[in-house]
Amino acid sequence: MSVMYLRGGRPLEGELTVHGAKNSVLPILAACLLARGPVTLRNCPRLTDVTAALAILRRLGCRAEQEGHTVLVDPTGASGCSISEEQMRAMRSSIIFLGPLLARMGEAHLTYPGGCELGPRPIDLHLGAIRALGCEVREDRGIHCQGQPRGGEIQLALPSVGATENAMLCAVGADGPTTITNAAREPEIGDLQSFLNHLGAKVQGAGSSTVTVEGGRTLSGGEYTVMGDRIVAATLLSAAACAGGRVRLSGVDWRHLATVLSVFHQAGCRVESRMEYVELERTRDLPLKGVPTIRTAPYPGFPTDAQAPVMAALAAAQGCTLFVETMFDSRYRHVPELIRMGADITTEGRVALVRGVERLHGARVEASDLRGGGALAAAALGAEGTTVLSGLNHIDRGYEGLEGMLQALGADVERREEA
Ligand code: UD1
Repeated sequence: MSVMYLRGGRPLEGELTVHGAKNSVLPILAACLLARGPVTLRNCPRLTDVTAALAILRRLGCRAEQEGHTVLVDPTGASGCSISEEQMRAMRSSIIFLGPLLARMGEAHLTYPGGCELGPRPIDLHLGAIRALGCEVREDRGIHCQGQPRGGEIQLALPSVGATENAMLCAVGADGPTTITNAAREPEIGDLQSFLNHLGAKVQGAGSSTVTVEGGRTLSGGEYTVMGDRIVAATLLSAAACAGGRVRLSGVDWRHLATVLSVFHQAGCRVESRMEYVELERTRDLPLKGVPTIRTAPYPGFPTDAQAPVMAALAAAQGCTLFVETMFDSRYRHVPELIRMGADITTEGRVALVRGVERLHGARVEASDLRGGGALAAAALGAEGTTVLSGLNHIDRGYEGLEGMLQALGADVERREEA
């Protein structure tokens, strides 16, 4: 079993380019199924979720391989239309293959992506979107969809990121135009739109709540660079807020982090946002301050994925901070672990009250979800003594070599194999 040893107390200093965004690259990989020629993707992070997506593409008859940060997908020979239960369970976002699979093959057989560490993760909006595009959806020990999609009107009851992307991907291969209303507005949807248009699609409106897709255009192959990961950036900034010091991150657009940066600013950090970089500085002797209620919300609200890392920083602030998690049922699994490290946090349903303590201390803790894992690493760097962090399989889904990134910023971290 791999564990991370993190020794707190050393301020973070330095510059880093943030790797490509997991939440961009996964739908873009699924979108490759729609292309009629080879696709080269640059800035692809090396993550276990990316490996899982490549395995799905290979099962569907594509050539799909990663070398460093470049991925090559050749979908020319794609022929399969089913994804195994094992592959569906390996990665929650495997459901994102449904739309492009139907668009390409007129048929798709999948199983449910399975339970989730964040609580139930229904897919009713994904299936509703597919039905609105004229396809038949049968749920019988799995999901069986049939029919060549045609354009339609999709009204999402919630601005779901995955359902918006699935709808876009199915609509690109549909006959006729599609309008998606109440679409999610996350920046990764804009990245997917840019990718699709780069290959010859006509998609408009990403970033607003109405997305339109012309449909029926043949997509070519091409080359594309995936955007940087704003949540990895938020985690590294949280680590600097925990440990103190000064870090400068490039490769992400600070405007995608505006709500997170505003919290760090209110907590007493110096934040400098430029087109080329975002910098955060915290003087170690000056404690952070608690901030007014942090309520997670769909973009452009405060991202649910940044809730845990930011909580790690505010756990050792002067004063209280109230968190309200509006997106997922079970997104406080890092809290008992932070409490092991000396935090004073009470949760009730979707609300968490963080009473800042003077300092956290090292402990043996376990990550039980991806961003919670990032939060525990950040907390450990501000804590007194050594933290031993396990559950790294969750962290490796979305952070490429987290310990390497933290080391590059001067942190005392190492990964070890333990029996
Ligand atoms: C994406 C991100 C994830 C992030 C989340 C919210 C990817 C790969 N993952 O996940 O990191 O935490 O957005 O920003 O991009 N819902 C339904 N029915 C559905 C679909 C969703 O009720 O069919 C609900 C969910 O339970 C949740 C809310 O909608 O309460 C938002 O979920 P959604 O935006 O779909 O998240 P994901 O796309 O799964």
